[in-house]
Amino acid sequence: MAIESSCDETACAVVKDGVYEISHILTTSSNLHEETGGVIPEIAARKQVEFIVPVISKCLNATKDALGLTSFEEVAKTIDAIAVTKGPGLAGSLIVGIEAAKTLAMAWQKPLIPVNHLMGHVYATFIKTNNDNGIQDTSEIFPAVALVVSGGHTDLILMRGHNNIEYLGGTLDDAAGEAFDKTARLLGLSNYLGGVLLSKKATEFQGYKPELKLPRPLINQANLDFSFSGLKTAVKRAVEQNKYSTTEIAFEFEEAVVEVLIKKSIKALIQTKAKTFIMAGGVSANTKLRDQMKTHIEKTCPEVTSYFSPTNLCGDNAVYIASRAFFQTQGGSLDTECNYASIRPEPSLGIDGV
Ligand code: KG4
Ligand code: ZN
Repeated sequence: MAIESSCDETACAVVKDGVYEISHILTTSSNLHEETGGVIPEIAARKQVEFIVPVISKCLNATKDALGLTSFEEVAKTIDAIAVTKGPGLAGSLIVGIEAAKTLAMAWQKPLIPVNHLMGHVYATFIKTNNDNGIQDTSEIFPAVALVVSGGHTDLILMRGHNNIEYLGGTLDDAAGEAFDKTARLLGLSNYLGGVLLSKKATEFQGYKPELKLPRPLINQANLDFSFSGLKTAVKRAVEQNKYSTTEIAFEFEEAVVEVLIKKSIKALIQTKAKTFIMAGGVSANTKLRDQMKTHIEKTCPEVTSYFSPTNLCGDNAVYIASRAFFQTQGGSLDTECNYASIRPEPSLGIDGV
């Protein structure tokens, strides 16, 4: 069973063998942040406090029904361990999930597994869904390059094993999702989490090629880093020029981000000779990114197998936290004497931090 509470989503899930979703309950306070144009940490944390017990209790009920059990006691017996997001994220939000997980783990005498949220995103690709069977042989995928592209992070890593992770590069300033959100706000499309709306707007562009040319930051540099804040400034200038339509700016912005993400991912695959590519995180739900990434990898690195997060698991959720917990403890023993007190929120945890 896993609990996720790193930002404005409160979620609880039960996953079997690291890949089969048994139950998942998720709620969010994002509507409140739409009003304020961004997350106010205290409000997000207060909502976590309000939501956490009902979400866990609904998840226990859903698990009971899914497994044909008759009581919460029986559900507790079937659970091997409790996993929880320890970071990165908002301290006040993280602490709510962590304290709830500790309480359950102590009451049920289960091991407690702290999970890195960013590594969690990667394991969304391991989940078997109706449309997609996910990764077939989970031990055969390494070495793998993973791109985690979310609202707060844009990271490229090399995975030689579940717990053998090397940081390859990441954003030096804004994350790709953050750039999408800020651009959506500049274009008057949405106050908060405007990535989807911006992408929708881009599809309305009728021209063959936009007249507007936005920069592709760091695209030709040998390193695997990204920078998206200059792109956002260039959009601001384009808006001020009053010369380009919203659809044209949206189209060219999306083109620029997608092009940079693809070029750097392929560079990482070539440099590391990885046999697998994994893409996850909120922005990986973007259709153009998924389609073009697939096409370019097939063309440039035909020996590489690509796995993208199922679209319903791109955003924050507890399913991938459970999956990551399963694989991160594989081969190791689950210590029931686990030192719960040592598990604390780590708001600034990096993707390669354990
Ligand atoms: O992974 P996520 O849910 O949260 C973090 O852990 O940060 O990612 C949310 C981000 C937001 O910036 C949102 O605008 C972006 O993912 N996003 C998209 C799309 N769907 C979500 N960006 C571009 N195109 C999309 N279709
Ligand atoms: Zn996330």
